[in-house]
Amino acid sequence: MFVGALALLVGSWSTTSSAFTKDQAGKGRAAYRKACAVCHGAKLEGIQLAPGLTGERFDQTWRGKAAGLLGDNIRRMPPENLEGDTEMPKLTDDEYTAIIAYILMSNGIEPDDQELAGDNASLSKYKVALLPGQKLDLLKPTQPTEAQAAKLANLSPVTDEMLQNPSPNDWLQWGRTYDGQRHSPLEIINKNTVKDLSLEWRTPLTPGQNMPHTIVHDGIMFLHTHPDTYLALDATNGQILWRYEYDTQGRASQKMGVTLAGDKLLAATSDKHVIALNAKTGELIWDHEVELLTPAAKGQYQLRSSPLVAGDVVVMGVTATYVPKGGFILGIDLNTGKRRWQFNTVAWPDDPEGHTWNDLPLAKRNGGSVWHQGTYDPELGLVYYGAAPTYDTGPLMVRVDKEGVTNDAMYTNCTLALDPKDGRLVWYYQHAPNDQWDLDWAFERQLADVMWKGKKVRAVMNIGKIALLDALDAATGEYLFSIDSGIQNIIASIDPVTGAKTYDPDKIPNHERAALVCPTAWGARSWPETSYSPKTKMVYLPLSEWCMNMEKGSGGALLSSGVGIGSDEHPTLSDDNMIGRLQAMNIETQELAWAHHQLSPISTSTLNTAGGLVFAGDIDPSLKAYDDATGKILWQAKLDAHPSSGVTTYAVDGKQYVAVTTGFGNFHIGGMTGAVAQFSKAREMQIPKRPTGSPAIWVFAL
Ligand code: HEC
Repeated sequence: MFVGALALLVGSWSTTSSAFTKDQAGKGRAAYRKACAVCHGAKLEGIQLAPGLTGERFDQTWRGKAAGLLGDNIRRMPPENLEGDTEMPKLTDDEYTAIIAYILMSNGIEPDDQELAGDNASLSKYKVALLPGQKLDLLKPTQPTEAQAAKLANLSPVTDEMLQNPSPNDWLQWGRTYDGQRHSPLEIINKNTVKDLSLEWRTPLTPGQNMPHTIVHDGIMFLHTHPDTYLALDATNGQILWRYEYDTQGRASQKMGVTLAGDKLLAATSDKHVIALNAKTGELIWDHEVELLTPAAKGQYQLRSSPLVAGDVVVMGVTATYVPKGGFILGIDLNTGKRRWQFNTVAWPDDPEGHTWNDLPLAKRNGGSVWHQGTYDPELGLVYYGAAPTYDTGPLMVRVDKEGVTNDAMYTNCTLALDPKDGRLVWYYQHAPNDQWDLDWAFERQLADVMWKGKKVRAVMNIGKIALLDALDAATGEYLFSIDSGIQNIIASIDPVTGAKTYDPDKIPNHERAALVCPTAWGARSWPETSYSPKTKMVYLPLSEWCMNMEKGSGGALLSSGVGIGSDEHPTLSDDNMIGRLQAMNIETQELAWAHHQLSPISTSTLNTAGGLVFAGDIDPSLKAYDDATGKILWQAKLDAHPSSGVTTYAVDGKQYVAVTTGFGNFHIGGMTGAVAQFSKAREMQIPKRPTGSPAIWVFAL
């Protein structure tokens, strides 16, 4: 490193509160060697899938920012490890602070005689020095042209009617439409023309933990980026037109999206506020701080999904990790930002389902996190949400011997149908009771009309981590049918009338018995969303084939039951040597349709279009277009970083665009890259190289 050149910069930050000492950096080096070097490299260069902590990546990610942001990212390391790897050394607060000092010094920033203080206030005051001539502000809006200014000024309010029946050109909310189908009626890019698809524009974004989806209305694109910055861009060329920087308190969370209603852009923040911005200007209209059930556990709550607007109510799911009283869903008034109602996803003792928690007191009931955005059927007047299982599985493992008490743990793993006007629970259906595996049924619920026993039924479908689809009557919650993608080995049978599942007793976590359980707790599917095509009647599901080993002494522990756990190959892998799978399922015949197998798991949502295409990105890294009828790859583009969120499409002035965001860290990318590395190593195949690109939006057009 060019310490000499950088010394020039010392003045620019020595005016701020404190620096760090050489001794401190030395301690940091030792702690780094102990806890970080195995993944990030002895010289902080990054190995395999862990990014480098020096050089270009450091310069682009951390310079010009408060050291607190770097500190937050370091303190969440080693990464949240589902397998609870007990081998990883635990670090003290001082060691973490010393590592910050060491990383700063490794990037040419000079020590002085003052210790770096580790408290939040000091760290957020201390700015990491910029390089000489380094562009300070990646997301600085450009001066809009007259045409752009007019486009913003004329942005039409997003009416209820538009949300129910959006223009084919627009992508107004997370799943595009209220039914969450991720189907676009656009067909300019189709099976014949897709071969000519190429990059139209690319706009860099700030790196960090994130999963942003782009949405588009009247040729303006909206999205959030790390940590809590909201942007409006010209959807034809990626120029930033306005920006709103929300001053978040604490650590940034991996949020999935923003949504439009009326003149407002609605978003959730990392510090658990729901905010409404003026879509034309980015000015704040209202700011709602979510009231937490257990305020002392503030850091364990998150808002991860995009808000959902149903009529004049903004519905927001809340996640709660190991928090007494669990997660909840909130209704906020769209016009005033005031709270309207709340539904608790963990049944309290006085709830009609209060007896399903193994006789635990309220303070010992937790889980029911609401991770994904819900869907809405305006005709039925219901919103549909999923609630996650609990991580605190130990106390539920063995059912207590008390009359009327069960350990089903309502409303975990349920589809919840709520009236958005008042939050009333109209019906619910539990897909898997007492989930000891962390195999959530927490993801998006899709609505579709299906022919079932000779009549048309409005169905609500969802697919959990075990990659099994359950379809219910959306009006009543009555069970219709299931389709199993064939990855899981936990469910031995399904009652054809009620859909009740019988677990294979050998796969139930047990301290005394080893078992190969498929899939892994990362999920055969995870956050990347499915799509449904009303044309082909197929659901397109991104899958990974990977399992877990439950065994004493395997190094990790599964949730609070503490049963030993490690990860393992899927027994069928040897057939094709592939972990990734794009699976089409036909809803009309309730059968598996085609499947495309590949080494790289798919790391984005799937998007299907009237042009007969399914788009999906994978950790190759690439964006691919598949034939929606056969799964044949019709087009692909190499990316320079992992596509890490949703794929969307829109049109402006008769031209169709396909957009994907890349380069963000998030939980499912971590799981997938880890599995591919482990698999490759076991097969003595080359471990895929870590892509070097920085986060960006990529937009393709003909
Ligand atoms: C088991 C492997 C592993 C270990 C050990 C580990 N990391 Fe990481 N780290 C990762 C991966 C993978 C990512 C990228 C995904 C993410 O951001 O979560 C990452 C991301 C980061 C980031 C964000 C970098 C960026 O550019 O986005 C920082 C900073 C970081 N690690 C620091 C550390 C420090 C300091 C330690 C030691 C205390 C450490 N890590 C230990 C795997 C690891």
